[in-house]
Formats: sequence, structure tokens, C-alpha cells
Amino acid sequence: MPFFDPVESGFYAACLENLLGNTRLRPTLANGVVELGAGTGIPMVEALRHQESAIPVRGFERDGPSSGVAARVVEKAGLTNYQIVHGDFFDGVRDGPERCAVANPPYLPAPGHAPELWGGDSGADVSRRILSAGFDAVLLLVSSISDPIGLLEHARKTGYRVVDWMARPITFGAYTRDSRVSHRIRELARHGHAFFTPDTYTIAGVTWITDPTATDDTEALTTVLTAGQAIGIREHDSHAHEPVARVPSPGQGR
Ligand SMILES: C[S@@+](CC[C@H](N)C(=O)[O-])C[C@H]1O[C@@H](n2cnc3c(N)ncnc32)[C@H](O)[C@@H]1O
Repeated sequence: MPFFDPVESGFYAACLENLLGNTRLRPTLANGVVELGAGTGIPMVEALRHQESAIPVRGFERDGPSSGVAARVVEKAGLTNYQIVHGDFFDGVRDGPERCAVANPPYLPAPGHAPELWGGDSGADVSRRILSAGFDAVLLLVSSISDPIGLLEHARKTGYRVVDWMARPITFGAYTRDSRVSHRIRELARHGHAFFTPDTYTIAGVTWITDPTATDDTEALTTVLTAGQAIGIREHDSHAHEPVARVPSPGQGR
């Protein structure tokens, strides 16, 4: 089922827009951008439109129905520089010239009822794989419930520096309140690998580059991602978004 959450996907779109408008990254972006998980395609379409960007983008989407929706969204938008590829990012990514990868990756630390949003046992496995794939620049949404410290350490060891980021809270939604997922999140929290309040966790859009002369902002970002202290997730919250993310009905959370 295509994933689209107005808050999270909208935030991802804003992060993409920042990236596309970053003049420092222009030489890196000139070879194009490759995306893991286009979903509905809406976030990238919005970003390319707002920036009036002609940068070529390949958006890989493993889920058949989602890639079909995304292809139609792109066609309707009349964007010839955004190509939706139905397939696995890691199988096709090395065929292209792109030096920059982007994703709002699967980051749930348990499969729950949405296995396509499962990011492995820590929630950060897919993100780690992208950071190990040899790109000069990477933009990822990083979640505070998916071993953020381990992920940032992995990026640093791989040679990346955090050059830009922005963060926001996200209300726990149906996917994260799923009993298998919330159980795993609480387990990670007990070992210092997940951070949240009873109602919210934090996501950050993080841009890393490999330039060794760049100033690295990992520490400030770590402070923000590890601020939540709760050990339990509130089960019912009158302010919580409606449970399931589908295309494109408003007011939902992962
Ligand atoms: C959280 S959704 C994000 C969708 C969209 N970018 C958004 O923000 O609204 C993650 C997407 O990644 C896709 N995905 C997961 N692993 C993938 C892979 N290895 N290759 C291609 N797509 C993948 C899933 O099917 C899912 O649609």
C-alpha cells in the first residue's frame, strides 16, 4: 500500500527542497539524485516544482502499487526529470551516475503490519546500507526511535560529516503503536537506542557529505535526537493522528 503521511512526507519534501536549493552541493547534484522509496512520488514532485529544479532524479520503489501511483503522479505533474523505477534501490543504484542519495527510509524496528516500513531490528539497517553505498552526499530522515546514536556513529566512521539538518516531533501513529513495534521501541529505549516522549518521537532530515574540510554538526543533532526520556508510549491520545497512512488523506502519522 502506498505510504503517504502529510506530516512526515511533507517534512521530507521540505528537506528535499533545501537540498536541491543548496548551492554548495550544486556540483554533487549535477550528476543527479537517486531516491530509495519514492512512495507516492509526491514529496519529490513538490520539491522539484518548488525549486523549479531540472536535476535528474531516479526514484526507486520496490512496492508495485506504490510505483504505479508514483509514475502517474509524476506524469500528471509533467516532470520529465523525475523517473520512477519499479525495483530495489540496492540492485539498480550502481547503474547510474548519481553521487547523491536521498530517502525517507523504512525505520520501524519491527515489521508490525507494514513490513515495507521495517528498517531491521534497530530500525536503522536500511539507512546504514545507504550510508555504506559510497555516495558523496546523502540526505536521510533519521528517527529518534531507531538507534539514532548508532546510525550517526556509523555515518561518521564511514567518513561522513553532518552539514545540514532540521528536526520536528511526530505523533505516534498506527504503525508505531502496533504492539510488536511499540514493544520493540520500548526494548530499544531500555538499552539507550530509542528516545521519545509518551506521545511523540523526533525525526530529522540530515544531509551528510564526505568533504573532510566541512564542519561536522553531529553533536548538536545527537542532542536533539536523544532528548526524549520516556520509557512508555501512551496508548490512547486524543491528539494522535488517525491510524493508517494511505494516499492521500490528511492528518495521519507513522
Ligand atoms: C516511509 S516510505 C516513504 C515514501 C515516500 N518517500 C514518502 O516520504 O512519502 C518508504 C518507502 O520505501 C520503499 N522501499 C523500502 N525499501 C526499498 C528498497 N530497497 N528499494 C526501493 N524501495 C524501497 C517502501 O516500499 C516505501 O514505499
